[in-house]
Amino acid sequence: MAFTLPELPYAHDALADLGMSKETLEFHHDIHHKAYVDNGNKLIAGTEWEDKDLENIVKGTYKAGAVAQSGIFNNASQHWNHNLFWEIMGPTGKTMPAELEKALVDSFGSVEKFKEEFAAAGAAQFGSGWTWLVKDASGTLKITKTENGVNPLCFNETALLGCDVWEHSYYIDFRNKRPAYLANFLDKLVNWEAVAARM
Ligand SMILES: [Fe+2]
Repeated sequence: MAFTLPELPYAHDALADLGMSKETLEFHHDIHHKAYVDNGNKLIAGTEWEDKDLENIVKGTYKAGAVAQSGIFNNASQHWNHNLFWEIMGPTGKTMPAELEKALVDSFGSVEKFKEEFAAAGAAQFGSGWTWLVKDASGTLKITKTENGVNPLCFNETALLGCDVWEHSYYIDFRNKRPAYLANFLDKLVNWEAVAARM
């Protein structure tokens, strides 16, 4: 089915005091995300994917191990990724629910250790991509990173948290300082209630 650009769940200037400017959200949501939606719609028109839902398109067009993915995959997957990204940030939800805190402590030793490992994975992703907190098929929480638009659906994992480490996500506010962007994302931008709700 046709992709539609969701409204941001908050105003474009709602994250400005938390380190993500109105200008970044205007470019990132209104231009970059919209381009994935528009290009994806052009590419699926008249194909077998035209009437499929987004998750099925992402899973069905992913080529495991391929260096380059198809245009349909890239645009569909980036549409899915950005839908999640807007949802798990916000001006509210800064108190981590106890259930999520316990799961992070059980899996990583402490919340601080989780943040360190997540930020390190995002910094280590060479070129464009994403870093994730996922729950795998056995229920284990893991930190992963993916290149370009590849996302946890491709590996039958549930994404609880995802951080966009494409330069378009941080260059206006943090220039080339990806580690500073990642630290700020974890400390100020994440809506932990939205993350816990995905468990
Ligand atoms: Fe992005």
